[in-house]
Amino acid sequence: MSNVIFVLNGPNLNMLGKREPGIYGGKTLEAIGEDCAAEAARLGLEVDFRQSNHEGVLVDWIQEAGAVAKGLVINPGAYSHTSIAIHDAIRAVSPLPVAEVHLSNIHAREQFRHHSWVSAVATGMICGFGPQGYIMALHALAARP
Ligand code: DQA
Repeated sequence: MSNVIFVLNGPNLNMLGKREPGIYGGKTLEAIGEDCAAEAARLGLEVDFRQSNHEGVLVDWIQEAGAVAKGLVINPGAYSHTSIAIHDAIRAVSPLPVAEVHLSNIHAREQFRHHSWVSAVATGMICGFGPQGYIMALHALAARP
């Protein structure tokens, strides 16, 4: 069984550190990736940490995760609220465990962020804990058989 967890990040998350720091904090995506790699090593796992601004690229990577990974952590960014393609891609790789992560608490923000097409097909969802959410997601997936 693979010990690789794919950690996929959607649009505008490459701007973390500069982007709305009052909402998303000051940490860069690169630093989040380093923290994930270090925590994964402690859990006996490896992470494949990626970001794309393109919906189809994320779909390709979800399909790849389905073929090779033990689990998937995904912050789909704004595609959470719009993308049936990402919803379908996650269904297509079932039963791959999927942890949806959002840095911010999407339910405490604008109405248009309250619904995620990903939540209904993810194993579980973590939001509102900033970068710590990625670490929590790794633990959740590590604990699965
Ligand atoms: C986000 C929340 C989304 O609503 C937003 O579009 C993002 C980031 C988060 O991590 O809090 O790009 O997924």
